[in-house]
Amino acid sequence: MIERTLVLIKPDGILRGLVGEIIKRFEQRGLKVVGLKMVWIDKSFAKKHYAAHIEKDFYKGLEEFITSAPLVAIAIEGIHAVEYVRKIVGATEPKSAELGTIRGDFAHTSYKYSDSKGITIKNLVHASGSVEEAKKEVALWFTPTEIHTYKISQEKEIF
Ligand code: PPS
Repeated sequence: MIERTLVLIKPDGILRGLVGEIIKRFEQRGLKVVGLKMVWIDKSFAKKHYAAHIEKDFYKGLEEFITSAPLVAIAIEGIHAVEYVRKIVGATEPKSAELGTIRGDFAHTSYKYSDSKGITIKNLVHASGSVEEAKKEVALWFTPTEIHTYKISQEKEIF
């Protein structure tokens, strides 16, 4: 039941200075950061991460956006971490994201708007969509030595 999942704070989150605010949302829920780094990826790495979307119409804009500035990659661990993190992040389309989620509170756009402009949807974060995907994505972004094993106080107070 203890899972690891991947979160990316995408270029819009970095350029808007939202790194601390976003990480806080996971920490306050008792989730544990077990890997953390800033990286500026190239197009070839973007294709590995978004392999499932390469053929889609929006891919070109997504690739341009994700390689346009550094991002922060975070490996997060916790009970049902994949599901918890997706809940904290909110729906992929900011217009549909509930208030109280990261995208619902800080992002402001829709598929209709971004598609009409031919640009990617700026939704601040990526979070693995399933346990399977999370395993693959954590392994893609982090080497085993970049993942840390330690105990946080919440493990005694909350779990
Ligand atoms: S999700 O959140 O991964 O479950 O969403 P999914 O629909 O499977 O993944 C789509 C990813 O592509 C990004 N993207 C877009 N999706 C749909 N339409 C448009 N125009 C578009 N532009 C970009 C979307 O944000 C998802 O990436 P991540 O990084 O997961 O948010």
